[in-house]
Amino acid sequence: MTTSARKPFRNPRARHNYLGRPCSIAAVGAYVPERVVTNADLEQLVETSDEWIFTRTGIKERRQAAAGEATSDLAAKAAQRAMANAQVSADQIDLIITATVTPDMPFPSTSCLVQQKIGAKRAAAFDIEAACSGFIYALEIGQQFIMSRTYDTVLVIGADKLTSVVDWADRNTCVLFGDGAGAAILQNRPGSHGLLTVCLGADGSKGDVLCVPGGGSRLPASTQSLAQRQHYIRMDGRETFKYAVQAMLAAGKEALTRCELDISQIACVIPHQANRRIIEAVSERLGARPEQVFINLDRYGNTSAASVALALDEAVACGRVQRGDLILLVVFGAGFTWGAAVIEW
Ligand code: ACO
Repeated sequence: MTTSARKPFRNPRARHNYLGRPCSIAAVGAYVPERVVTNADLEQLVETSDEWIFTRTGIKERRQAAAGEATSDLAAKAAQRAMANAQVSADQIDLIITATVTPDMPFPSTSCLVQQKIGAKRAAAFDIEAACSGFIYALEIGQQFIMSRTYDTVLVIGADKLTSVVDWADRNTCVLFGDGAGAAILQNRPGSHGLLTVCLGADGSKGDVLCVPGGGSRLPASTQSLAQRQHYIRMDGRETFKYAVQAMLAAGKEALTRCELDISQIACVIPHQANRRIIEAVSERLGARPEQVFINLDRYGNTSAASVALALDEAVACGRVQRGDLILLVVFGAGFTWGAAVIEW
């Protein structure tokens, strides 16, 4: 269902969006692969323990895509669930935006592959890359197309198969990540205010702190790059941790300030699910009570661009978020990139 309501957006909490046509999240959907990899499974691969992983990260298990199951497969399944929840058919979709750092291949884009899989023949399609912050970046881009009345229905996806770039011999990183996908249908829906604000940021000077050095134009795949394990994730964990807390806190505060909201008015804070200690540090400094914060990383680990979309889908599905509730999403990822969004569900 789409409309072309011409009323200006008059929600006083959302000055940021004042001039545009309001953009709502009509529904969300998510998908995770069936295979569960527990901390005990990882004890068989590297020198680690369930105790170390759980204490340092809060992760108990994660999902791993099957051999031959690619990011577009996860993304298409999440998209179909979001479409069903929003009662939107494939031919209604005007645009597909997929946020991913693990595309099926360098080109064509994963969004084009999803377009074919879900049969959205009318849709334009492109990918964006902002690592774990990708879903919020994609939401903001999708929202602009709704606000400007360029498109009526935008499918936004956050999907990653990080297990395809994890070095299974590196205990510093292989315990952290998992695979998954989350999707949202953006539309203008009368009576629903949806996205109230989105704040985005980046610091490219920190690019080498968390990266996959090989496989691009700087270091194309070669015998040498393979031998040097350049196609896997490299991360300075402590530096990432410190920066993540500062950036997520600043973005979360800015989003609340823009909407003239106090944290006590937020029904559910959904942070990027990377590390429980990061989530607790950010939540505490934002002044959020533990019961306001939604956490599911114990079951999925860090699913990168899928992370907050997957958590939002679960929060809605289990009734933790009700229509009319205010939600704060806060994210952080490689780049470094970060962002926060306030949503009126
Ligand atoms: N099992 C056992 N020991 C380990 C493991 C493991 N899996 N991994 C590291 N260690 C060891 C280290 O080698 C180190 O040993 P050493 O002192 O002998 O050198 C020791 O544990 C402590 O390492 P620290 O780096 O101090 O551990 P820390 O408490 O910082 O936790 C962690 C490490 C979990 C990686 C943490 O720094 C972190 O979560 N950082 C942020 C990571 C993150 O969130 N990344 C993604 C964000 S962006 C995105 O999503 C792409």
